[in-house]
Amino acid sequence: MIPKIITIDGPSGVGKGTIAIMVADHFGFNYLDSGSLYRSLALALSEENIDIDKDLVDFKKLLAKINIDYRYCKNGEITIFVNNKEYTNKIRNENVAKMASEVAKNSSAREMLEVIQRNHIKSPGLVADGRDMGTKVFTEANIKFFLTASVEKRAERRLNQLKDQGISANLPNLIKELLFRDKADTERAISPLVPAKDALIVDTTNLSVSQVFTKITKEVDKRI
Ligand code: C5P
Repeated sequence: MIPKIITIDGPSGVGKGTIAIMVADHFGFNYLDSGSLYRSLALALSEENIDIDKDLVDFKKLLAKINIDYRYCKNGEITIFVNNKEYTNKIRNENVAKMASEVAKNSSAREMLEVIQRNHIKSPGLVADGRDMGTKVFTEANIKFFLTASVEKRAERRLNQLKDQGISANLPNLIKELLFRDKADTERAISPLVPAKDALIVDTTNLSVSQVFTKITKEVDKRI
């Protein structure tokens, strides 16, 4: 049987990850957090002190030999090893996210990561979240979603998430960081953040997580 593919794209902080994991577990599908691959590559480059705009030879060498081992095993449990070094938690901060947005502008980096992303298609299916899952990497997906929410709401959700982790942050700064990444992701020349023509747009501003989950699973049930 051909594996089914569900793509969930959208801006930073919209809650794609939470929803994508719930949907993947509900259908017993694999889950790909494509942003974690951009973050891993960005951190590897930074650890090797490679500037992708200046150190072209070293950058190409790293792209050719890097081994990003991403695994998903239910209940949101993701592990990432880069060249056998654990990156799972090290990539989850705003500094790495910002570096990832820079790396994401580079076409060689995107091409290399696209191959890794497509290796995660598995039976019975895959839920992939990111910025260009529906427009570029999995154009053949059975169903595509694009989640949106106001920047204020996204910042508020991020603030609560950070609070739960015991990390202090403030709303105006979070709004600034999200606007910075929105601009970088929507204005870049290659694979910018835009909804696929055949994507279903879900505005989550006034919806709870379970309302978004119900909306999405209903649509999937109709089509898959
Ligand atoms: O989703 P996450 O916040 O982890 O992504 C980090 C950055 O990686 C994004 O801001 C974006 O620039 C880049 N990215 C991308 N394409 C994807 C996933 C992430 O360009 N499919």
